[in-house]
Parts: sequence; structure tokens; C-alpha cells
Amino acid sequence: LAESKIVKPRQETRKFPDGMLFGAATAAYQIEGAWNVDGKSENIWDRLSHQEPCVIKECHTGDIAGNSYYSYKRDVEMLRELGLDFYRFSLSWSRILPTSFPDKINAKGVQYYNNLINELLKYNIQPMVTLYHWDLPQKLQDLGGWTNPLIIDWFTDYSRVVFELFGDRVKYWFTINEARQICYEGYGTGGLAPMYNISGYAEYLCYKNILLAHAKAYHLYNDEYRSKQGGIIGIVTFVTWYEPESEEHSEAAEDMRQFDWGVYANPIFSKKGDFPQVMKDRIALKSMAQGFPRSRLPQFTPEEVELVKGTSDFFGLNHYTTSLVYRNESVNGYYVSPSQSDDVGVITYKDSSWESAASSWLKVVPWGLYKILTKIREDYDNPPIFITENGFSTLGGLEDDRRVAYYRNYLDVILDAMEEGSDIRAYTAWSLMDNFEWDNGYTERFGLYEVDYESPERTRTPRKSAYVYKEIVRTHTLDH
Ligand code: BG6
Repeated sequence: LAESKIVKPRQETRKFPDGMLFGAATAAYQIEGAWNVDGKSENIWDRLSHQEPCVIKECHTGDIAGNSYYSYKRDVEMLRELGLDFYRFSLSWSRILPTSFPDKINAKGVQYYNNLINELLKYNIQPMVTLYHWDLPQKLQDLGGWTNPLIIDWFTDYSRVVFELFGDRVKYWFTINEARQICYEGYGTGGLAPMYNISGYAEYLCYKNILLAHAKAYHLYNDEYRSKQGGIIGIVTFVTWYEPESEEHSEAAEDMRQFDWGVYANPIFSKKGDFPQVMKDRIALKSMAQGFPRSRLPQFTPEEVELVKGTSDFFGLNHYTTSLVYRNESVNGYYVSPSQSDDVGVITYKDSSWESAASSWLKVVPWGLYKILTKIREDYDNPPIFITENGFSTLGGLEDDRRVAYYRNYLDVILDAMEEGSDIRAYTAWSLMDNFEWDNGYTERFGLYEVDYESPERTRTPRKSAYVYKEIVRTHTLDH
């Protein structure tokens, strides 16, 4: 038998190392509610969800959401029930800085996060804090949002406020959650707030600005706070596995990986830095053919390449699913209308035999995560990995056996990758509880805890997956 064909006998019980951290995640707009309370100003999701006619499924809004602004003690109680090491949550920029700028710090907003952080620490649960999970202050959007290079300074100023306020107690920081969704879906395809649809230009401006904003915040922490506060800081990248539909499409699949997540990972984690070469080449070529005098992809200066390189203490990995890929150079008509999908020149789709979650994009393909972990280990010199999100959606109900199976199967391949040398330090379930799933409102449920949106206090009840996850965390083992 060829070596690759030898199937390793599986141990009955597979164990995670003692030091492996387990947690659960949420994000401010998705759970807090209290959208216009105690001095908080409007952000882009407030604006979008209040738009008429409505654009969010069933006209849902995050106005009340999970009511966590008032129910944070219950949230911490849930984390204790699960026995988790950490809680990954995000800060609302417009709650802390109602004008968007540090001229005015909102004491009540700060109090809310202090209460939450202190409650976590009382029970020895580490706060892992995301500075930005998609809820840009509306005023900054009116000034161009992530397409305006001044946002690099705005974000750095906001970061300084946050490090000053909470850095004495917060030792794990994430700057940006999923630049892909912010840029590509926010400015390119129009799927998420601010729902711009200026593909081929706007998402590329956003990519550059967001990487520089992240890098500046990283350096600020590194230079001025790390020695006195002693934490670590990095970025969170959304990584989908792209599998070629057949051998001949291997290059197409790799192109897609680079356009979809190499665009953020390469500038930070590769030795050379900068945007992936294939993006630079393909976008320049298409731009010229379309009659542009220069590439639609803005360039980093050599100084900027250096500034961005190495600015993450770990690889923050959000992973949900896998797609198949084949080459197709005429997505929108070759050389006709600029768009990222035309620039990359591939078609992606899902295998119809793959099991689907309630979210149609989320197919269950655990081997995709295994391939990602292997690729990160090989391409980026085996960085420490924090799995910062992984999870499965249903339409609701407490008997969530398919979510249980999803977690078990994905944790299983994480163990495979660890056995092969991947340096995985933490695992985070998305999500601690049901929440506002962006354009899908409350129609999709990702929670270990079910939230009753009919009850005024948004009662939370553990699902079967909560009990199973708790056992995995307690024993650090996965039984077969
Ligand atoms: C992740 C986001 O990409 O996907 C989460 O970080 C989000 O905020 C999750 O809730 C599920 O995605 P969706 O589109 O179904 O809400």
C-alpha cells in the first residue's frame, strides 16, 4: 500500500492538550440591543436595519437583539455553565465614542464594557475583545467609511482609547473581524452594510485601508501598550476552503484562495508581504484591457509593505465552509464590467451532495478545514492559530443534533492537524447564543443557547450542543 492509503487506526478517545483554550463568541450589534440608549450614536447597521422598505429578512433589526446590554450577567453565567476559558465579544465604536472621535468618551458605554469585563474576570473567564465587528459609526460612513484613507487614523485613535480604557484587564485583542465581509460584501457585492455595490474598485480601496488601519493599531499596541499591559493582538480572517472541481482547475482554486483570503493573510503572514502576486497581475492586466491607465488595485508603497508585515501575534481563523471552483474567464463578460469576480476569473459552487445548514452558504465539509490548517502551516511558517469562529446554523429548537455533529467533526480534523504539527491554541464556538444574523435577521440560529425573542428579557435556554460542548471542554477529549 502507498503510504497515503494506510488508514491510521483511530484512538477511541482523542485528547486536546491541557493548554488548549475553549470559548464562545458574539458581536456587539448582534446581541447588545439598546441601540439608542445611554448616549450611543447611530452605526451603519442601525441605519441599514431601519431603512424602508426594509432590506433585512422579515424587517428584523438589532434594536433589542439579545438584550445583552442589560443581560450581560446572564451571558457570563452561561459561559460559566459551559466552563469556558474565554469569551470573545466585540466593542461598539459608536457606544464608546458617540461622535466617532475621541473628543468625547461616553462614560455609560464604557461602564457597560467595564461591567462585562469585570464580571468575566470575577469568574476567571478571559475577555477576548474584537475592536471592530462590522458596526461602523454612521458618521464615518458618511465620510466614505473604509474607502477613505483617513479611516486609518480614525481607527488608530479609537484603538488608543480602547487600549487605555480596558487594556489593564484585556490580554487578547482582535483588531478587525473578517475584512473580507467588510470590504467585499460591504463595498463590492452589496450583501452587507453599507451595501455598496461598486465592485472592482471600492472593495480594493477598502482592502488597503483596512490592512493599514489594522497595522497601525497593532504597532500602537506593540510600541506603547504591550510592555505595560502584557497582552497579544492580531487580526481575524474569514477563510473558506476552495477545492478545484478537478485537477485541471487547481490553479483556479489557488487564485480564488488568494483573492478571497490571501489578500489579507499574505500582506501580514507571508515573508514577502504585500498583496498576493496573482491579484496584482490579474487586476493590472484586466484594468489595462478595460482601458484604465493603472491597475484598479491600489498599491502599497515599500514602506507600507513593511508596516503591515508581521502585524499579528497569531492567525485568527474564522471558518465555516468549503466551495468548489473551476476556471471561467467571462464571469461578467470578459474585459467588460470591472468586478472582483471577473478579476479572479473563476466560478465557485457547492457540491449538491454536501449537507447544508439553515444558511444556504454553509455546507458541512470538515476536510476543508483540515486543508486550510495544513495550508496555513505550510505557507505561513506555522503561526500560532486561534480558531476565532466555527459553527452551524439551524432554524431553531433545542435538539440540535446536527450542530453537535458539526462541532464534533470539525474538532476532529483540528486534532488531526494538531497531530501533524499545527500550532492551534484556541477554539471558539460561534455562537454563545442566537443573535441577529445580519441580513438574515433572526431567521437563522447559531447559538449554543436558544434565545426566546418573544420574551421581553430574551430568555436563554441551553441546547443539546451546549451540554455536549461543555463535556468536550471539561474533559478536553472527543470520544468516538
Ligand atoms: C461570520 C461572522 O462570518 O459568520 C458572524 O463573523 C456571523 O458575525 C456568522 O454571525 C454567520 O454568518 P451569517 O451571514 O449567517 O450571519
